[in-house]
Amino acid sequence: MPTTVVTGSASGIGRSVYELLKERGHRVIGVDLKDAEIAADLSTVEGREAAIREIRALTGGTLDGLVCCAGLGVTAPDSGLILRVNHFAVTALLDALFDDLKRGHSPAALVIGSVAASQLVGQEVPLVETLLAGDEEAAVAQIRDLDKPQLAYAASKYAVTRFARRRAVAWGPSGVRLNVVAPGAVETPLHKASSEDPRFGEAVKNFVAPLGRAAQPSEVAELVGFLQSDAASFIHGTVLYADGGMDAMMKEATF
Ligand code: NAI
Repeated sequence: MPTTVVTGSASGIGRSVYELLKERGHRVIGVDLKDAEIAADLSTVEGREAAIREIRALTGGTLDGLVCCAGLGVTAPDSGLILRVNHFAVTALLDALFDDLKRGHSPAALVIGSVAASQLVGQEVPLVETLLAGDEEAAVAQIRDLDKPQLAYAASKYAVTRFARRRAVAWGPSGVRLNVVAPGAVETPLHKASSEDPRFGEAVKNFVAPLGRAAQPSEVAELVGFLQSDAASFIHGTVLYADGGMDAMMKEATF
């Protein structure tokens, strides 16, 4: 029975991934602020370290899967928190648990990105460079000065996707696969909060995928389940969109 850690397992996409992997015979260890096997605040260094310690205590240091779903949207209490959870918590867990994954059976890790990253592809964004340099406090200070939650969100997802692709190249020889799933709009509490927000609601509601609807969390979880399975044994370092055609609509020439 494969052992898989899922962050953000208490709600939305993470909840759906948690349930799907359980159904498919995984031992699943959820990590979330509450209502999970491991309660931890991944926005802080101490919270991440506590989560890693508890994961090791439960697994003995051998892990077959890691799915990083925990994330915050544009309605988060502050933009720095978006960077801490969406980017730095993910990079910290991936790097810390790489050795545990190396000991696993057909190991695979996955990051939930976002189609929101597409808008930054090919652009020079200083915040993205700071995120990729791994300087958490400098990045948080930078976004505090700008006060732009949409930029924080898009930059966090663009940078974490690039980080994952870099690691995929470095991890190749170890056999630990690593992929990114980039959803479009998915009906979750995060999406509901964004669409009801007086600042961003209109834009969120008007950004409709060619398929004409938002996804259910299970439609994203199915893709995650596939990528985490042996059926995807040669898929590595890729970004797969589950976005109803949004990425194609925004940038048909770049893929
Ligand atoms: P959600 O709000 O339903 O679930 C997010 C989970 O992350 C929650 O259970 C929350 O408690 C957890 N979380 C947040 N901060 C945390 C922290 N500091 N420590 C530990 N856990 C924490 O949101 P949803 O929509 O399921 O989002 C999951 C992922 O999918 C996120 O990374 C999000 O950015 C991404 N995504 C969502 C889209 C959508 O339209 N819903 C679109 C594209 C990407």
